[in-house]
Amino acid sequence: MEVDTHQVQISNFGEPERLTLTEISLQTQAPVVRVAFAGVNPIDTKTRAGIGWAAKENADKLPWCPGYDVAGELLTADGKGSGQHVCGLIGFPFMGGAYAEHVSAPQDEWVALPDNVDLRQAAALPLAGLTASQALSRFGDLRDAEEVVVLGAAGGVGHLVVQLAKQQGAKVTAISRVQNHEWLLALGADCCVDYGQPGWQALVAEHASLVIDCVGGEVGLSLVKQLLCGTDVVTLPTVTADAIIEAGDAAGCHVTGMLIQPDPARLKQLVTLLADGVIKVAVAATFPLADANLAHRQVETGHTRGKVILDCRAPATPE
Ligand SMILES: NC(=O)c1ccc[n+]([C@@H]2O[C@H](COP(=O)([O-])OP(=O)(O)OC[C@H]3O[C@@H](n4cnc5c(N)ncnc54)[C@H](OP(=O)(O)O)[C@@H]3O)[C@@H](O)[C@H]2O)c1
Repeated sequence: MEVDTHQVQISNFGEPERLTLTEISLQTQAPVVRVAFAGVNPIDTKTRAGIGWAAKENADKLPWCPGYDVAGELLTADGKGSGQHVCGLIGFPFMGGAYAEHVSAPQDEWVALPDNVDLRQAAALPLAGLTASQALSRFGDLRDAEEVVVLGAAGGVGHLVVQLAKQQGAKVTAISRVQNHEWLLALGADCCVDYGQPGWQALVAEHASLVIDCVGGEVGLSLVKQLLCGTDVVTLPTVTADAIIEAGDAAGCHVTGMLIQPDPARLKQLVTLLADGVIKVAVAATFPLADANLAHRQVETGHTRGKVILDCRAPATPE
């Protein structure tokens, strides 16, 4: 199939204003989806800025279209709407390509959406939901009634870790700003701790058996150094994982870094949990595709509650 469409690209790493809406011709044998919404993740903003493993991999392949999360309508072979809504984690880990009006990806990467699933939430689910699920179960080996501490609980991944850990029978302590506590308790957290409070690390260390660290850096380090010997930790930000693993070793903790792996079968289960109302995906802000730069600036505040998405149905306004 050949489709004239638009996607957001960068030709050089740098500031969010490097993101430019560009007209392209999509030529593919794979199924094509008319994108309704695309999810925005911190990996997109880091890669755009030239930071981390995906930037290193793509440095000599620019222009690059960011984004891995898509929800939209599958097209038929003759380019018409099929009526089937789908979502997917596409082009992971290097190719990306989700910030677009149309994307193509192999059939087995798409998960069918039940009618009652909101396309905005479906676009925000794949990368954050699979990360939360894999951090808890594959890398964290969550056991029944474990005491799980979530650092960065109000973020895109963190708010899903809180809900999935509760769904699996854990007792959950959520660490966030005070402004997010009421919201996190409503999502199911058993208690909340303010990271602005002096000595918060010692307070949570007493009870933690599994820590999911969605923040990393100096904050993650300050917590890991105070954990009790034997505590399990999964640290998500890859850029600071080595330093946190080293500090964990010194404290007698078992710290694991991770990289999310595409898993359409697990994504299908997460979609069912969403359809059944067992989990909710909070969408904090929606920006038109042409304003991807503003979406990146929002994510880069580091204080988004839930997820940011792009509305790819908005009228395209190429420069
Ligand atoms: N390795 C992997 O496979 C993988 C996969 C996905 C994501 N990640 C990484 O994991 C990290 C989290 O991703 P995300 O999508 O959840 O990011 P996000 O949505 O941008 O996270 C923002 C959240 O971080 C919280 N936060 C900021 N400073 C904090 C602090 N000092 N203490 C506690 N919470 C703090 C904020 O809560 P407050 O407003 O309460 O401060 C905000 O809600 C990113 O670095 C991302 O790149 C890694």
